[in-house]
Parts: sequence; C-alpha cells; structure tokens
Amino acid sequence: MKTVLITGCSSGFGALTALEFARAGYRVVATMRDPATADLGAFDQPGSGTIEVRALDVTDKGSIAACVASVLADYGTIDVLVNNAGVHLLGAIEDMNERDLQTVMQTNFFGVLDLSRAVLPAMRRAGSGHILTVSSVGSRVGRVTDGIYCASKAAIEIAFEALRYEVARFGVNVSVVCPGAFRTGIDRNFALSDAQERSPYAALLRYRLGRVREACRDGGDPAEVAAALRRIVEGPSPAFRHVVGAKAMELDQALSAADATARADLLTRFSGIDWWLAGANGPEAC
Ligand SMILES: NC(=O)c1ccc[n+]([C@@H]2O[C@H](COP(=O)([O-])OP(=O)(O)OC[C@H]3O[C@@H](n4cnc5c(N)ncnc54)[C@H](OP(=O)(O)O)[C@@H]3O)[C@@H](O)[C@H]2O)c1
Repeated sequence: MKTVLITGCSSGFGALTALEFARAGYRVVATMRDPATADLGAFDQPGSGTIEVRALDVTDKGSIAACVASVLADYGTIDVLVNNAGVHLLGAIEDMNERDLQTVMQTNFFGVLDLSRAVLPAMRRAGSGHILTVSSVGSRVGRVTDGIYCASKAAIEIAFEALRYEVARFGVNVSVVCPGAFRTGIDRNFALSDAQERSPYAALLRYRLGRVREACRDGGDPAEVAAALRRIVEGPSPAFRHVVGAKAMELDQALSAADATARADLLTRFSGIDWWLAGANGPEAC
C-alpha cells in the first residue's frame, strides 16, 4: 500500500485530497496543525479508507522532523507528498505588516521547501516518489493587493522547476498544481486590519477583497482539485505544471500568448482596477 503524506488537511483541498487518496486505496497520513480542534467527521465515514491524522506545522522545523521521522519509522517510505497547506492574506505591498508578510512566505514558500527537503532523502533512497505542491494560477501574474501571495506561489514554482530536474535521475517526480478560484472557504481569513482601513490603499483593498470573495464564492467544486492531484500521481509521465479550473486555464493561456501590452491590459481587466488607475474613488465613479 502506497503512503501519501498531505499537509493542511483540517479543511478545504487538504481534507478532500485525503479522502480522495484514501478511497482509492492509499494509506493517507493527513497532517494538520492542531488535530485536537479539527472537525474530522468526514474521515470516519464508512468507505473513507485508511486515514491517519498526525500533527504538522509546516513553519516549524521541529514539527517537520518529528512528523517525517515518525511516518518513516512506521511505514518505511513516503511515496507521495502533497504540499497543500497555505495561507492567503491580501494587502497592498506598502501596507502589509511584517507578521503577515512573514506568515505568507514562511508557509507557502519555506514550509513547502523545508518539508520537501525533509522527505527527499527517503524518496531518493527508495528510487521513487512524487512531490506535488498546490500553487495557484496567481503564480503567473502580480494580482493587485495580492502581490505577496502571488510571489510566494511563483517562488516555489520556480524553485521546484529546478528541483524537478535535480531529482529526476533518482526516480522522484515533482509537479505543481495551479487552481483558479474554488469554494474551500479560504476567504474566511481575508480581513482588513485597522491600519489598512486608514491607509491610502483602503478603497482599493476593500474593492479587491470584495472581488476575491466573490470569485471564491462563485468558484469551482474543490473536489475537482483533489481528483486532479490523484490523476497526476497515477498518470504516466506527469508534466510539471497543471492548471485546474476552466477560468484559470483561460487566464493561463491568455497570459502565455500575451505580449507586454496585452499582459498589462489583461491584468487591469482581470483585477477590475481601471478606476484606481484613473485616480477615481471607486469603480462606480469611473
Ligand atoms: N481555494 C482556492 O480558490 C485556492 C486557489 C488557488 C490555490 N489555493 C491553495 O490551496 C491550498 C489549500 O487552500 P484551501 O483553499 O483548501 O484553503 P483552506 O481551507 O484555508 O486550507 C488551508 C489549509 O492550510 C493549513 N495551514 C495553514 N498554515 C499552516 C501551517 N503553518 N502548517 C500546516 N498547515 C497550515 C490550514 O490549517 P489550519 O486549520 O491549521 O489553519 C488549512 O487546513 C493553499 O495552498 C492555497 O494557497 C487555493
């Protein structure tokens, strides 16, 4: 039985991916920061397969070392690692406080890097393995008031494009999955701090928060992403980058075809920020 270790399984894609792999017969180690407070009812339903919950905070090197060591001690290998845990905090670059900047980069970049580096020696020794990382279609574009999140996803994609070729000769695969907007509830953590409310970017951020929340509410079924992750693991010669979601694929293809002018136009239309660039107080004033 193949062992899959998944991060961020207390909610969203992580919980659904744990179920997706477990129902297909994998042994799933579903990790989360705080198993004691998570609602794990779905994992106990009949037919939900073998899901074992363990604690893992990807920003804590001690937690990574302990979790990887305990899984290897119990099962000998980690065949598949799904780096799913992530945080999405919005803010204008000038506005974002130091703690939020650190949280996004520590979780979405260093957390993924540190865990993957901890798992790699065992995969190399086994001569096989697959590291999948949930990135975002935002990795291709600096979305306004979302620059730090987009940068964190772009950074891990570029690093892992290199990793893919470094580890291929050891039988290890590396892929990234780039979803568009999906209804996971990730927007529950978006909020305007008091400082942001008073900032020169407040109108822009308020507007963008509304747009991103709307996109999440109208987004796709997150089970689509869980199914895509399993398909990639089971498919022959998996590619590096997989965009998931119809709108995300459309945007990704448009970006690939765009020259600098078309890219600027796409970014402005996509973010709906003509009014901001025109110096107006809100979209209705434009
Ligand atoms: N939903 C979308 O539209 C969308 C689109 C593109 C990409 N993504 C990416 O998809 C991934 C999953 O997000 P989601 O949409 O499923 O949202 P979510 O429900 O908020 O899931 C995020 C998960 O990450 C966990 N997490 C946060 N910090 C962690 C840490 N330090 N260590 C371990 N786990 C941590 C959270 O656990 P706690 O319960 O402990 O906070 C939560 O379970 C993220 O990487 C996100 O960037 C989502």
